[in-house]
Amino acid sequence: MKMLSVENLSLHYGAAQALRGVSVEAALGEVTCVLGRNGVGKTSLLRAIVGHRPISGGSIRFDGQDIADLKPFERATRGIAYVPQGREIFPLLTVRENLETGFAPLNRGTRRVPDEVFELFPVLRSMLGRRGGDLSGGQQQQLAIGRALVMRPRLLVLDEPTEGIQPSIIKDIARAIRYLRDRKDMAILLVEQYFDFARELADRFAVMERGEIVQKGSRSALDGNDVRQRLAI
Ligand SMILES: Nc1ncnc2c1ncn2[C@@H]1O[C@H](COP(=O)(O)OP(=O)(O)OP(=O)(O)O)[C@@H](O)[C@H]1O
Ligand SMILES: [Mg+2]
Repeated sequence: MKMLSVENLSLHYGAAQALRGVSVEAALGEVTCVLGRNGVGKTSLLRAIVGHRPISGGSIRFDGQDIADLKPFERATRGIAYVPQGREIFPLLTVRENLETGFAPLNRGTRRVPDEVFELFPVLRSMLGRRGGDLSGGQQQQLAIGRALVMRPRLLVLDEPTEGIQPSIIKDIARAIRYLRDRKDMAILLVEQYFDFARELADRFAVMERGEIVQKGSRSALDGNDVRQRLAI
């Protein structure tokens, strides 16, 4: 089932067009990976989906309903969680407080950090009282993903979770994404430039160049060389 269906999306920054006719879908129990080099519009696409930037054309449907006019908070309440590029954790709040910022879209009765956050990322439990800013980059990335999982999303959107992260933590993050995918209760939309990580995880993929999708396919197509070449500088 298609949880998210983006059709013919365009987005502008002033007179500059960052997205042109972008269509992409994400299904429950699958990882959809959007690949592309620096500056092609990957983050702009995710910002449009989570509601941080207005769109200038096209539609965004989530769970069958058009959400393009909803505020970010309303989209979060419906089940869209965002792990932004650069992580954006709160450096002066503790790890526990950072996780609790994920409670905002939840009803009072359900405000509890799910155990799975600590099962997936045990380091977070041992650092609950530490300030976010004292964590390593990789630990901050795990915290950002944990914070997104606190709201038990139906769509998890991740923007370059491997950027600047050491290999051992990249493995932990890949394992967590695989676990969440296999649980089959959420759709995962992953933006990446790191081809090997995408190939390992993606059920479907789309490649962007200059604001457009130039190639789409299922995971088997990632074994050929053409997608890797599109990402090479
Ligand atoms: N706030 C903004 N104002 C004006 N132009 C912007 C803004 N944000 C992004 N852009 C431009 O829009 C285009 C797409 O940027 P975007 O951040 O979506 O790319 P990206 O694929 O995420 O890049 P990266 O891989 O470096 O994260 C770029 O040309 C960028 O300079
Ligand atoms: Mg980006």
